[in-house]
This record gives sequence, structure tokens and C-alpha cells, in this order.
Amino acid sequence: MINFTFSGSVDSALTDERKNQLTQIHENLYNKTGKGSDFLGWLDWPSTVQPEFLERIEKTAASIRVKADVLVVIGIGGSYLGAKAVLSALSPYFEQGKKQTEVLFAGHQVSGEYLKQLLAYIEDKEVVVNVISKSGKTTEPALAFRFLKKFMEARYGEDAASRIIVTTDEEKGALLNLAKDNGYERFVVPDDVGGRYSVFTAVGLLPIAAAGFSIERLLAGAKDAEETYKGVDFEKNPAIRYAAVRHHLYTEGFTNEVSAIFEPKLSFVQEWWKQLFGESEGKEGKGIFPASVVFTTDLHSMGQYIQDGKRNLFETFLLVKEADEDMTVFEADEDGDELNYMAGITLQEFNHVAYRGTSEAHLSGGVPQLSLSIEKLDEFQLGHLLYFYMLTCAYSAYLLDINPFDQPGVEDYKNNIFKLLNKPGY
Ligand code: PA5
Repeated sequence: MINFTFSGSVDSALTDERKNQLTQIHENLYNKTGKGSDFLGWLDWPSTVQPEFLERIEKTAASIRVKADVLVVIGIGGSYLGAKAVLSALSPYFEQGKKQTEVLFAGHQVSGEYLKQLLAYIEDKEVVVNVISKSGKTTEPALAFRFLKKFMEARYGEDAASRIIVTTDEEKGALLNLAKDNGYERFVVPDDVGGRYSVFTAVGLLPIAAAGFSIERLLAGAKDAEETYKGVDFEKNPAIRYAAVRHHLYTEGFTNEVSAIFEPKLSFVQEWWKQLFGESEGKEGKGIFPASVVFTTDLHSMGQYIQDGKRNLFETFLLVKEADEDMTVFEADEDGDELNYMAGITLQEFNHVAYRGTSEAHLSGGVPQLSLSIEKLDEFQLGHLLYFYMLTCAYSAYLLDINPFDQPGVEDYKNNIFKLLNKPGY
């Protein structure tokens, strides 16, 4: 269970009117009658996912681990951030890729330098490519795949096809046609699951399993969250309470939410969270702007603004109670650095103290404080957390009377690029 706290009174966010609104939203969500309800496939996905599908993912992941030093995952937005978030959170800082198949990403930006250096890096390694695009027509991954496909064909000849896996729509898109024409193995992005809600589908599961992490535990965590947060209990459901408080603060003029962490491994969970909330809520001139900071690093930069800048932001700490590994400050013979007063404190304990100190300081600076805590960083807890965020996001967008599942702004930019590049038909 996620532990949610708020520096103010949650009851003041849960007025009778808002409770009625949330009850209606809950009904619309679970009866699938709200805006964009064609895209609610993620809601009961963890409890309904088919064992045969998971077996296929595990089988393909095992074969990737046997034949590849490197898995290149090509995708952008929701087609890469879920896997990136989970892999960054679970992988050791300095051993990533040494013990297991290394997962690298491409097509999430258009840097020629990045792509050229990636191709040089994988030149003498065994490679498998997983190209992911729900629409099958997004420019950035399509461009990257053009180069990677050529690389794979030059490197493996006819065998290249057996080293390319496509994750896309079941029925349409240029990528689907390429997959069919070349006989690539295919996984489907379900019709009713949008990109940023797709981490528990093949989009996230295949790269995560290929890297050697337990997708069974990840999905067990998501299923636990699905069951735990299903009810509309205003006292007990932190997904609803968090959504209610965010919305309450928004109506009071706090239009920016700053996610703050003390464990840098979570920085891509923050990136995933920003995409989820930014793309789901930021519409029709409404929505909370999601931003992120990594503490204590950013206490020496953005900390100034948070403490003392424009008072339109609130801060949500994402905390991990237990660290997997830790170090204890030891007593030095010479106290030249004047740190002996901290002897016996672990670095995790230091961060807990830093959290208390920072939170109190920012609160006194007029920044409302929220916190979400998980026990530790493992597959189960992450699965639980990501599902929790998706559910809260749906509640939050519906509180703004917005469809959480479309992204007209993103489509505008995509179409504009096509027009500027004279793509036929645009
Ligand atoms: O959440 C979304 O729908 C978007 O962020 C998409 O994931 C992103 O634009 C990539 O689209 P596609 O998977 O169609 O290439």
C-alpha cells in the first residue's frame, strides 16, 4: 500500500461536493462510461492478463538473453518510458548490462551523434532490436529503425529478421506492414491501452524481462494495486486522496507539482510520471504542470526557487523507506572535515533527515507538502506504484473534466512535422 501524507487537511480537499464528484468518476471509470473510456484496457489488465501471453514474453526474453549482448529498444514517449523507468530503478548503478543483456534505447530523440555512437558501440556485440510504436508511424522511432534495420541486415544477412521484434498495433501502421513483409516476430499493443498506460503490456514487459527482471513480480504488484485501490473509500484509498488533494491545491492556485526524490534511481520514474500526468491532464487550457527534482542534488539549484520563488507550486516527495545497500558514516581519527558528529548514521538515515528538514523548510516557505512512500525498490513495489499513478492520473484528469487518454497536442506537433517535411498526404 502506498502511504500518502499531506501537510494540510485532506478533509478540506474532500468536501461533500468533491466526494460526490469522485463517486461519479469512480462509477464512470469502472463502468467504462467516462470520456475516452475506449482506452481503459489498462484498468483490469493486471488481473486479466493471459498466462499464455506471459509465457510467450518470457520465452522471447529468454531467447534474447541467449543471443544478445545488447537489446536495442526503439520507441518514444509511452513506447519507451515505462521500460526505461523500471530498468533504471532496478538496475545497479555501475553494473548495468554487465551481468545481463544490456538494454539501450534509440528513437526517443533525433540526435545523429547519439545514433552514430550507438551503432559504433554495438558494432562488435551481439544485438537484438525491439522496435515499439503503437501507431506504427511515429517519425523518431521510424527514423532510428531505418538505420538499425540496415545495420542488422549488413551484420546478420538473412538472419537479421530473427533478431528484430516489432511491438505495434494488430491491424494498421507502416511498422506492421514492415513486420509482415520481413517476417519479424510481433507483439501487439492492445487497442484499448494508450502509450503512456502501456508499461504492463508487451511494450514494457518484453524489455524488462529481457534484462532479467521478474515481470511476474511486477504484475503481481500492479494486481495488488488494482485490487487495493478499487474501492471508493475516501479514508483509505490513497489514489483518490492524492487526486483530491492535487485538485484542491490546483483550485487554490497551486498549478505546478514538483516531484522530489532522494534516490536518483527513480529519476526515470519521474520522467514517466511527467509524461503520464502532463499528457493526460494538460488540455483545454487546464492541468497541473508536472516538474521534477532530485535531492539533495537539486537543493543546490532548484531548491532556491522552491523555497523562495513564485508561490504557485506544491511538492510531492516520492520516498523509499528501505535501501538495498547502504553505508554508515564512520568515526575518523582526525575530525578534519568535522563530520564525526554524524558517526553511526547511515546515508539512508541522512536522507530521511534531509527529507524532514527540506520538507519543513519548504512548508514554511509556503509550499504545500505531499508525500508518497513505498517500502523498497523491487519489481513488486514498482508495479504497485506505476499502477497507483495511472489510477490517480485518471481520477485527476476526470476531476478537471478532461479525457485522460487522448493527446491532441502531441498529434498536432507530429502532423506539423509531416507537413514541413512534405510527407505525402499532409
Ligand atoms: O502516450 C502516448 O500515447 C504517446 O506518448 C505515445 O506513446 C508516443 O507519442 C509514441 O507513439 P507511438 O507508440 O505511436 O509511436
